[in-house]
Amino acid sequence: MATGNRIVTFEKPMEMKVNTFKFPELITPQGKKAPHGAILKIVTTNICGSDLHIYRGSFEVPKGMTMGHEMTGEVIEVGSDVEYIKVGDIVSVPFNVGCGRCYNCKHMRSDVCEHTNPEVDCGAYGFNLGGWTGGQGDYLFVPYADFNLLAFPDKDAAMAKIRDLTLLSDVLPTAFHGFAAPDWPAQPAYIVGENVLIFGAGPVGRAGAACAKLLGAGAIIVADFIQERLDLLKPHGVETINLSDGIPIEDHLERITGKREADRVIDYVGLDCRGFGAESDQIVENAVTNALLKYVRFGGMTSTVGVYCPNPISKNRDNKKGSMEVDWASGWIKSPRMSAGQSPTANYNHALMRAILNDRMPYLTPMMNTKIIKLEDAPAAYKEFDDGSAFKYVIDPHGSVAA
Ligand SMILES: NC(=O)c1ccc[n+]([C@@H]2O[C@H](COP(=O)([O-])OP(=O)(O)OC[C@H]3O[C@@H](n4cnc5c(N)ncnc54)[C@H](O)[C@@H]3O)[C@@H](O)[C@H]2O)c1
Ligand SMILES: [Zn+2]
Ligand SMILES: [Zn+2]
Repeated sequence: MATGNRIVTFEKPMEMKVNTFKFPELITPQGKKAPHGAILKIVTTNICGSDLHIYRGSFEVPKGMTMGHEMTGEVIEVGSDVEYIKVGDIVSVPFNVGCGRCYNCKHMRSDVCEHTNPEVDCGAYGFNLGGWTGGQGDYLFVPYADFNLLAFPDKDAAMAKIRDLTLLSDVLPTAFHGFAAPDWPAQPAYIVGENVLIFGAGPVGRAGAACAKLLGAGAIIVADFIQERLDLLKPHGVETINLSDGIPIEDHLERITGKREADRVIDYVGLDCRGFGAESDQIVENAVTNALLKYVRFGGMTSTVGVYCPNPISKNRDNKKGSMEVDWASGWIKSPRMSAGQSPTANYNHALMRAILNDRMPYLTPMMNTKIIKLEDAPAAYKEFDDGSAFKYVIDPHGSVAA
């Protein structure tokens, strides 16, 4: 029986460490007993662009905070109130912590659960959002296990596709949310034949391109500055724009689609975004937000999946407080449907699991380019990821995937 639990921790900007904590118990961060919870032995736990905001210091968290919100694990213990999740199940953990009991959870909005964070209606592992211990480690406590966990139907089939299934805890459902919100579940994510412009070719932007393929989009166009990331998409019918090429985005759009605007424009970048053109050597926090409004067609749709928050390291006084200047009038007249915020991962993970298990997304593995690493190599992987590497880093703490 294990007694310790190694977990990646935030030390200071640009420095992560692996520290050892005590083995998790069925107890909430507020010290309440949680018979509705489960303990997992982690199978895979990914590093995310959201972790990079913390790593860089633009999303403020306390020193020593445990990291990690993209976990897949094997259930090794369940509380007395858990009815359906069983010891031995391989499960995906949505990064949002939902209670399954509040108004928002009952309305498919587990991203804004009212009960899992006493400070603000939004709980998550590995952020400063409710004190839930992060999962870039060996073991994890998950509350409300029946509500939160997605069990894979078959252990061997799950392990055979683990590189794709590991994406269900966040990036794939999050990318899907870019198309599904704000109409889900009243309307499915209907984008057949629509031209999609995606900002960001990180793992979430690449997953967005994969979802757009699954959903039958027309042209799928991804813009970024990092050629190696764009190159992962090109063989799969995705058009790419290298923003360093000096050609205006609208000229690219016209070349590819015959129009200078797109039906759907999505921000998969977030607050650390670079400016365009002459400003591309600096962070310009409102650049992508304004680009959504500029490039969406009249009556189209925008979605802000990238994270925005008060940014203590910003040079801009407004951005420090979390505000920014937006070209609201030009956007408003276009009357787009708009969405922003965290993804309610549990809404979409089940459907996407079926798509993976039934081979509907054979392009996902090459587009995502996962790299399996050891837990002790996670701090170095943060640096490589921040430097722009084209991998999606997946930590394999017990060597289960390697085996
Ligand atoms: N809403 C949610 O629930 C949710 C969940 C997961 C991740 N996220 C967020 O999604 C975003 C992307 O995550 P990721 O893992 O892909 O991160 P990432 O940092 O790997 O990718 C961001 C990409 O954007 C590119 N970029 C920078 N400025 C740009 C610009 N002006 N135009 C186009 N591209 C630009 C970067 O070169 C990089 O490739 C992050 O903000 C992350 O926090 C949100
Ligand atoms: Zn994530
Ligand atoms: Zn809730």
